[in-house]
Amino acid sequence: MDYGAGQKEIWRPDGNSLVLQSTFGRALIREMYMLIRCRSDIAPSEITPQGVWRDRRALLQATAATGLLSAIGGVVAQGQSAPKLAARPSPLSTMERATAYDLVTTYCNFYEFGTEKEDPSRHAPKQLRTRPWQVAVDGEVRRPRTFSVDELLKLAPLEERVYRLRCVEAWSAVVPWIGYPLAELIRRVEPTGNAKYVEFTTLADPQQMPGLRSRVLDWPYVEGLRLDEATHPLTLLAFGLYGEVLPNQNGAPLRLVVPWKYGFKSAKSLVRIRFVEKQPVNSWQRSAPNEYGFYSNVNPTVDHPRWSQATERRLGEDGLFARRRPTLMFNGYGEQVASLYAGMDLRRLY
Ligand code: MTE
Repeated sequence: MDYGAGQKEIWRPDGNSLVLQSTFGRALIREMYMLIRCRSDIAPSEITPQGVWRDRRALLQATAATGLLSAIGGVVAQGQSAPKLAARPSPLSTMERATAYDLVTTYCNFYEFGTEKEDPSRHAPKQLRTRPWQVAVDGEVRRPRTFSVDELLKLAPLEERVYRLRCVEAWSAVVPWIGYPLAELIRRVEPTGNAKYVEFTTLADPQQMPGLRSRVLDWPYVEGLRLDEATHPLTLLAFGLYGEVLPNQNGAPLRLVVPWKYGFKSAKSLVRIRFVEKQPVNSWQRSAPNEYGFYSNVNPTVDHPRWSQATERRLGEDGLFARRRPTLMFNGYGEQVASLYAGMDLRRLY
């Protein structure tokens, strides 16, 4: 199959998995592969039945409605699996079918743990320590402060937001995140008039993160948003998914989720949020400026230099007869966010 210039599929010797030569990050074309799991690769037991997921959601909603939220920042139970996080439902959720939990938590991009899709779930659960964890919030603010993650968990009511996630590599998922609008945190630190942008820095600890040995990116991983993007109601500070605390491979203990932008803007395992006057240079932009821009809004009409962005492959819909879905402008969130970019040339400001 042709995915555009520079991309090709290679069948692995076991005949079950398909390897697509990666196009994410020009510097690494030789070294990186994007592993696509085919239907025959995924045991039916791996896929969370929709009924179970819906029941779980109903339970969460009932818990939130009856005011049974835990006093400890929403952590309600500690069983054998990940601790649960209670959250109230949000009208901003999509009603689309959520991608299976096992796919969301094993098909990951978290290059600090390796560039293969399974590397983060292989290494992060054992190697990433998520307590104690501090986040410095500073720069152009009147009330700079360092928060512990447990303080942040209690800062505002947790919501469940089911969002589409569109990766720049042209795969997509639907994820039920748990968190609250980043705006809640921002208003508490009181940005000054000089704060035009927000820079997000994530953990870079070679002791915990084997991927830092690779020069795939300049570490730490850095991302940025314009202040009005950062305070937009859709921009989420996430602590969980699927009713549970974030698995390490998905960016524990807290990450950003910006659903109308390519997934790489949603930085994982945040340690610093800095308010600045000048537009930050994000990690992918620094590595390949002609391929990755600052804005990185999902845009089916602006192709990546090496592949089309017009369509996408939804995780869990792989297989011989799978159809690719058309990619939606702003990942389908145009009604809420298009006004942020009125009058801008989105072909130039990609
Ligand atoms: N954050 C950090 N720190 N490191 C990364 O490599 N990858 C990004 C983003 N956040 C990345 C990151 C990319 S490319 C995507 S598509 C999303 O995380 C994937 O999130 P998920 O693995 O939870 O689906």
